Amino acid sequence: MRKNSKCLNLFLILGLAACASSGTPAAPEPAAPAEVAPEPAAAPSSALGFTSVQADRGRDVFRSTCTTCHYSEEFSDQTFKRSWRRSSAGDLYDFISTAMPEDAPGSLPPAQYAEIVAYFLQMNGFEAGSMELPADADALSELSLAPLGG
Ligand code: HEC
Repeated sequence: MRKNSKCLNLFLILGLAACASSGTPAAPEPAAPAEVAPEPAAAPSSALGFTSVQADRGRDVFRSTCTTCHYSEEFSDQTFKRSWRRSSAGDLYDFISTAMPEDAPGSLPPAQYAEIVAYFLQMNGFEAGSMELPADADALSELSLAPLGG
């Protein structure tokens, strides 16, 4: 299992903050801690993530609609990682929401497909966050599955 690179975003933000404040060699003034970052304007797409509650709902949907043909293990094994690591969460969403369940393609509400994607991400070691994954293939195309391997 690979760590996802979400923390890179945070690192970049902190890095920038460090640069911004390193301009002057400056007075070691005992900084007013109240003045810190005025809340990083919620970056819309880089904040793409899922919640563990959403992933748990996905597991329930998966168990009730997908396990007639699949084991959950199939979606975190090497074959799965190899086939999806060059794709995005949008591709995965797109595939399952149009082709699955094989005997009734597209029959679930969009939100449930997003829940299943969240469940798959969680099984693959992606870290849950505070925002739910949207049921929107375009938005989800911003979320790379590269952390699956490589
Ligand atoms: C009636 C049987 C059946 C059901 C139910 C079913 N699937 Fe599938 N699924 C298949 C078959 C057969 C394949 C392989 C053929 C293909 O890729 O189209 C497949 C392939 C897949 C793949 C691609 C596998 C990979 O490693 O790339 C995913 C993802 C998937 N299914 C997800 C789901 C999800 C999520 C559900 C439940 C909403 C579901 N399937 C329900 C039969 C089923």
